[in-house]
Amino acid sequence: LLTPDSRFDRWLRGDAHAITEVERAGFALFRGIGCAACHQGVNVGGNLFEKVGIFVTIPNKAAEVLRVPSLRNVAVTAPYFDDGGVATLPEAVRLMAWVQLGRELTASQTGAIVAFLGTLTGSYAGRPLMA
Ligand code: HEC
Repeated sequence: LLTPDSRFDRWLRGDAHAITEVERAGFALFRGIGCAACHQGVNVGGNLFEKVGIFVTIPNKAAEVLRVPSLRNVAVTAPYFDDGGVATLPEAVRLMAWVQLGRELTASQTGAIVAFLGTLTGSYAGRPLMA
């Protein structure tokens, strides 16, 4: 599945105006706190298997190893996680930070990361993807 030309891709190619300041701050946070240790590479994930619940055990999911999903188009592919149990992206981001990194994000940090993830939405067959 090829969904090229997200705003993030355009920014990486040198279009400085393709993403906003908040989105850039979200990207810095995404790298800085360690999301990118698992969600990495050209698909921002999809190339590792990792435990879910590293810092905080999730009931019924202790030590379960799952494929780290690509976060491309994640803003338009709710609901989240392998069981579709989380309805919104801010909640998915907040939970990830807590269970995988042991971090409690503020609302503005969560918002910045969600804004960054929104820049990963690409086009399919020439049409921008939408929820
Ligand atoms: C230790 C590895 C690891 C780290 C660190 C990590 N993730 Fe994840 N992430 C995963 C795995 C594995 C899943 C799949 C979980 C599931 O489906 O139950 C996942 C799922 C997700 C999802 C849901 C995607 C979907 O389509 O359902 C989002 C969003 C996400 N991660 C964002 C983040 C963000 C933001 C951070 C940093 C705050 C982060 N992740 C840190 C491994 C990690």
